[in-house]
Amino acid sequence: MKVVFETEQVLVVDDFLPAKDFEQMWRWFQVAPFFPNDMRGLHGAWRLDDGRVFRGPDVYYGSVAKQVASANEGAFAHPTGTALDLLVERFSGASDIHHKLLGREGKDWRTIAMAPRLYERNSALYWHRDTPSVVTGTCTYYAHPEWNVQWGGELFIAHPSALSIPDRCGPSMIEPKEVMGRGMVQLSGHLDNQEVNDALMEAGMGYYVMPKPNRIAVMKTGNPHMISTVKPAAGDHVRASVTMFMIRPGQEGVEGLR
Ligand SMILES: [Fe+2]
Repeated sequence: MKVVFETEQVLVVDDFLPAKDFEQMWRWFQVAPFFPNDMRGLHGAWRLDDGRVFRGPDVYYGSVAKQVASANEGAFAHPTGTALDLLVERFSGASDIHHKLLGREGKDWRTIAMAPRLYERNSALYWHRDTPSVVTGTCTYYAHPEWNVQWGGELFIAHPSALSIPDRCGPSMIEPKEVMGRGMVQLSGHLDNQEVNDALMEAGMGYYVMPKPNRIAVMKTGNPHMISTVKPAAGDHVRASVTMFMIRPGQEGVEGLR
């Protein structure tokens, strides 16, 4: 486990799992059930042209994981007896590395929601951010055995100046609007991104993190970020990731961008 990059927004750790655990994670991806993410309708931050992203089982970790999982159809609670346990336990045990960005387990956050995803070629995830009142931050682990710099799939994190986008604009970074018959609605940007474009284009720069195998990228809450398109050059290599959301105590039932 070695920290290779650290700012006030993001932390990157390489060789996160021991080699045999990394191998088990990749094997788990090969046996776990994955379904197209939009099977339950368009939701979250994905846009119409973000391709086909596959969603694996949701797993919850923490002192109330069983209750949270039972309230979410198709979700499981830690321990699962699978390689996901190796990942979340290692992560939880590494809080000295990430507490500055994410806070402490049991105090600042209580539950981890694990979201395994497969990004095939031509798939992506559009700009969005977490909700600071719900999560303290996120961490993404890259489980594929190989990646190439020409395959795309990088995590883009906007310039710190984007932290000034008001909280009321929510995960999609759009001012709530009155929709006739619905009241005030937090629209998502999947059909109209003008406001987000104006906000992010102001600085028009940021960082990228390659989805390097056996790496974790830890991100503090509130940072606008996206996943760039996996390029056709990736062929049948998938970008296999597990994103972990650090949920504040009592916020487990809030529908988030996951
Ligand atoms: Fe995200």
